Formats: sequence, structure tokens, C-alpha cells
Amino acid sequence: NGLKRIFSGIQPSGIPHLGNYLGALTSWVKLQEECSCVLYSIADLHSLTIPREPAALRASILDVTAVLLACGINPQKCLLFQQSQVSEHAELGWILECLTSVPRLQHLPQWKVKNASQMNEGTVGLFTYPVLQAADILLYKSTHVPVGEDQVQHLELTRDIARHFNKKYGEFFPVPKAILTPMKKVRSLRDPTSKMSKSDPQKLATVSITDSPEEILLKIRKAVTDFMSEVTYDPDRRPGVSNLVTIHSAITGLSVEEVVHQSVGLDTARYKTVVAEAVIAKLAPVRSEFKRLKEDGGYLEKILRTGAEKAKALAAPVYAEVKRLVGF
Ligand code: ADP
Ligand code: NA
Repeated sequence: NGLKRIFSGIQPSGIPHLGNYLGALTSWVKLQEECSCVLYSIADLHSLTIPREPAALRASILDVTAVLLACGINPQKCLLFQQSQVSEHAELGWILECLTSVPRLQHLPQWKVKNASQMNEGTVGLFTYPVLQAADILLYKSTHVPVGEDQVQHLELTRDIARHFNKKYGEFFPVPKAILTPMKKVRSLRDPTSKMSKSDPQKLATVSITDSPEEILLKIRKAVTDFMSEVTYDPDRRPGVSNLVTIHSAITGLSVEEVVHQSVGLDTARYKTVVAEAVIAKLAPVRSEFKRLKEDGGYLEKILRTGAEKAKALAAPVYAEVKRLVGF
């Protein structure tokens, strides 16, 4: 694990939600303990692929920083930084764009979905951001990338770009491997056929990591389930209650079977309260630490500045070598 270089990122697009927490952040906290070189980026360049108000974006960057620290990300054990503060990300991104064909990007499923949801008014940035992700990863010669299922195709693109670069300019980038998060997708509480997402405009669909106990209880109580009252796990036929079981199991660390077994005799209404209580208990310390950190904007900015300096020190020699290899 001393030889592994881990890279991952999260967009500063509002407060991270329960899906981010269970699907990504808890495994990020583990990885920083296990590996000596771990980089986590607040991907502000990526967040511009969707229009943002400057003030909201600026606030989001500090919010996400505070959430990550509150979840246990420790700047002594990993490198936490803001992507745009290390200019080599964008610079390498450009070089890699010049190695990537248009059809290769057109075939990515996320482009099809996101472009359709922007009514075909998606920007060039929305189209090319998977190449910027490749630059994020390769800039540190990363060897491993923790990803959710939805990012597997993008990591595959990064691997192709690394191979392409190596073939053209000589062996240089490691071809990075996925660390697949074992977590099943947390789904929207209002529409359990789609994933919980920061960009979901529906009220009550998403539990934010910093929601109050009252908000968590309300949202889980209002979660869409079905007409059957017992607790079973059947994601295809009963996505709503199965989503609650997924959340309950991930929060408690118990298996799905154990959670279902424990819940024999509860109706879904009562079960929702049980799940809500477990979520509230788990998130309570995170919420209070978040509030404490938010009081100290200067501290958060200092963490990001130090992180960027360290990231830059790793990125600069790699990028200098890339420039030399391509003929600049
Ligand atoms: P969002 O889709 O909500 O904007 P991001 O794209 O910033 O979230 O994702 C950050 C990380 O959180 C990624 O590793 C992603 O796989 C994970 N993640 C996002 N949504 C979920 C979810 N609903 N369930 C589990 N993991 C998720
Ligand atoms: Na570490």
C-alpha cells in the first residue's frame, strides 16, 4: 500500500448527501489510513459544467471542505485540496483532449443522459469533463481510483488515454485501476428508481449530511414505499423499502439479511422511524463538527492552501515531464 497512489474527487455542488457519505466518504476515510499517498480534490472546475452562481459556488467549496473534515478526512493523512488551485489540472486536461476522439466521448452514457437533461444545450465543458477527470488522475501518476459504479466508464476512458499517451510518447503514466466501492447506490427517497443526487430538485428526496434530526426524520418518514407493510429486501419489485434497508445496513454495518431479520414484525411506518434514528445517531457528530468548522473560515482556507501547495509539488514535475515528452 506504500506504492499505491490514490486519487478521488467530489464536486462542490451543495452539501454532500447520504449517498456520497455511504458510497464514497466513508471509504475515503478508510483509504487515508491504509495508504501513504492519497489525494482528495474538491472538483470546482468540474462543478462549472453546470451553471453556478459565483457566491453559491464559493460557499459550496467551503461547505464541502468542512463536510469532508467533519466526516473524518484528516489532512495529516491525505492531501485535501481545491482543484482550480493547481493549474496543471487544466493544462494537462488540454493535452489529453488533443489525444481523445469526439466519438469516444459521445459514446459515454453520462454524456447522453446529461446532455439530454440540458435539452441539448450542454456546454463543451460538460462534453469534455471526463477528459479533465483523466487529467486529475494522471497528473499524480495515480495507480488506484475509488469509484462508484456510475464512474466505471470514465475510469475506462482514463485508462485508454493513459495507454494512448504511453504508446505515442513512451511508457510514462501508470494505467490506474478502480477500487470499486462495495456500497449499493443510495436511491432518491422520492423516486427510488433513480439515485440520490445533489442535483435532484425534489424537496425531501435527499438527506444532506448536515440535516437536523427533525429534517432527517421527516424525509425518511415521507420516503416513497409501497402498499405492502412488511420489511423485505427486493430492489426490483420493492425499490422504496429496499432502499431503506440498504441505508440501514450501510449505517449500522450489519448485512442486509441481518437488518431484515431484525425488522421482522415491524410495519414500514415503524421501520422508517428505526432507520431515521440510526441515520440521525450516525450523522449527529458529523453535523456538530461541521458547525464548529464552519465558524472558522480562515482555518478551512488554510487547509485548502496547504493542500494545494503539497498537490502542486507532486503535480509540477509530472507536468514538466509531460511538456517535454510532447515537444513543448
Ligand atoms: P452527485 O451525483 O450527488 O452530484 P458526485 O458526482 O459529486 O455526487 O459524487 C461523489 C461521489 O459520491 C462519487 O464517488 C459517487 O459515486 C458517490 N455517490 C454519488 N451519489 C451516490 C449515491 N446515490 N449512492 C452512493 N454513492 C453515491
Ligand atoms: Na495516508
